[in-house]
Amino acid sequence: MKTHTLLKTLALSTLLAVTGISAQTTTGSAEKGKQAFVKNGCWQCHGFVGQGGLAGAKLAPDPKPIEYIQAFVRHTNGPMPPYSEKILSNQDLVDIHAYLKSIPKGPDYKSIPLLN
Ligand code: HEC
Repeated sequence: MKTHTLLKTLALSTLLAVTGISAQTTTGSAEKGKQAFVKNGCWQCHGFVGQGGLAGAKLAPDPKPIEYIQAFVRHTNGPMPPYSEKILSNQDLVDIHAYLKSIPKGPDYKSIPLLN
């Protein structure tokens, strides 16, 4: 009886662990994305929080959909160098997208008394 309950608990926690991991790989991890953003040098042109700068476009807040980012990053032939899957995996891109999505918007200027 005791063993039975233990097995049930084990099975349940394994299931939770597995679904937890798969949810993370499909939705991306903002924490890993931040690391990939830094490691791959995206920040050099786009800024640490994707705010854009002299060299790169604004990426966040409100990033474009992952499909757009994937197509752009893989195939761009403009001023930004394209990144192949060998350099930057699809999972890295999904994580970077999650990181960009996690960047909060600045306050609305209407909420700053001095600017009204
Ligand atoms: C050498 C500078 C440079 C680096 C490094 C760089 N970018 Fe860019 N990126 C640019 C420039 C410049 C543009 C605008 C280019 C254009 O419109 O053709 C751009 C555009 C983009 C766009 C499209 C933005 C839009 O709204 O159309 C995305 C997405 C993007 N970069 C993501 C990334 C990611 C992710 C990385 C890191 C893996 C990265 N970039 C690294 C310079 C850079």
